[in-house]
Amino acid sequence: MTDQIELSGVNKYYGAYHALKNIDLAIRKGSFTALVGPSGCGKSTLLRSLAGLESISTGTLRIAGETMNKVPPRKRDVAMVFQSYALYPHMTVEENLTYSLRIRGTPKAEAKKAAEEVAATTGLSNLLGRYPRELSGGQRQRVAMSRAIIRHPKAFLFDEPLSNLDAALRVHMRKEIRALHDRLGATSVYVTHDQIEAMTMADHVVVMRAGIIEQQGRPLDLYDRPVNKFVAGFIGSPAMNFIPAIGGEDGRSIILDLGQRQAIGLGYAVEPGRKLIAGLRPEHITVAPADSGGLKVPVAVVESTGSATYITTATTPELAVVVNGRAEISAGETIGLDFAPAQLHLFDAQTEKRL
Ligand SMILES: Nc1ncnc2c1ncn2[C@@H]1O[C@H](COP(=O)(O)OP(=O)(O)O)[C@@H](O)[C@H]1O
Ligand SMILES: [Mg+2]
Repeated sequence: MTDQIELSGVNKYYGAYHALKNIDLAIRKGSFTALVGPSGCGKSTLLRSLAGLESISTGTLRIAGETMNKVPPRKRDVAMVFQSYALYPHMTVEENLTYSLRIRGTPKAEAKKAAEEVAATTGLSNLLGRYPRELSGGQRQRVAMSRAIIRHPKAFLFDEPLSNLDAALRVHMRKEIRALHDRLGATSVYVTHDQIEAMTMADHVVVMRAGIIEQQGRPLDLYDRPVNKFVAGFIGSPAMNFIPAIGGEDGRSIILDLGQRQAIGLGYAVEPGRKLIAGLRPEHITVAPADSGGLKVPVAVVESTGSATYITTATTPELAVVVNGRAEISAGETIGLDFAPAQLHLFDAQTEKRL
C-alpha cells in the first residue's frame, strides 16, 4: 500500500504558540486513521492543515505524492466532514449534495444522477426532496458525508463528526461511517477526543498530546504496549491504575506501594531501588478471597451496571477493578486482589517512559 498523505517535520505556530511540533506521519491509502488526544492537543490544527484551512509553518505535506504546502484548499481534492454538518438550510438534500458540482459547472442532469447514486449508497434516496430541518441528526450527518462523497476526494477528513449526537446514535454512526469507508475504499482521517471511538473505528491510531505525536500504531498494540504513562492512561476504559513502585533487592521483583507494601516477582530484571510507576488495567485484576495471601484491601465503592461491577478500593492510590457480571461485594468489606505479573506495565517514575 502507498501513502496517500505524508507529513514530514511539520511545525505549526500560531504567533508564538507552537501548536504542532515536528510531526512525522504517513497515512496509507485505504486506511482509517484516528487522531486522538485531549482537547487542545492540536488534532484540529493537524486536520485543518491537511485540508489547507491552516498553513503549516515548516515541513512538508504531500497528498498522493504531490507537495501541498502552497496549494489552496479547493485544489487539494480532500473533503472535510464537520461536527456541525454545515448544511445549507434553504436547500433540499439534493441541492445540498449537488451544490459543489453545480458551482463547478457540472450539467444539471449529471449532478442529479451523481446525487442519486450517492444517496443510494448512504440510504438517503427517499429524502432527497427534504430540507435539513426535516431530518434527524443522524440523517443530517449522512447528508454531510454524502456531500463529501459526491466529490470523490482523495481523502475524507472528519473533525469530531459525532459530538452533537446522543450516545446511542453515536455508537450507530461509528459503524455506519466505518462501513461506508470500507465500501468506498476511501482514505479517512478522523479526529476525536474519544479514545473508544478511535479504538473501535480506526485501523491506525495516532495519540497526540500538546502538539506532539506520543505514539501511533494499531489500536490493540497501543492498548498492549503503551510507550509511556500518558498513552497508557489515555487508552483504555476505565483508565489504567498507576501505583508507585520500587525495584526489589533481588533485581527481579518490584515492591508496590499501596499504603501497604507488596512484593511482586517478575520474570525479568529490574534495577534494585529504581523508582517506578506500575500500571495495571482494571480489567486485569481479579477479586480473590481476603486470606489468599496477596493484596488485601478495603472496598470504598461498588457500582453495578448489570453487565459489570466496578469496584474502587480505599487504598492510596485507590484502585479501580472491573469484574464481569455481578459480584457479591459491598463497600466497607475487605477483599483480596490478584493479577498476573505479566499484566503489569512498568514506567520509569522520572521519565514516565515504558521500561
Ligand atoms: N487560530 C488560532 N490562533 C491561536 N491559537 C490557536 C488557533 N487555533 C487553535 N489554537 C490553539 O492551538 C492549540 C490546538 O488547538 P486545536 O488544534 O483546535 O486542538 P484540538 O482540536 O486537539 O482540541 C490550542 O491550544 C488552541 O488554543
Ligand atoms: Mg478540535
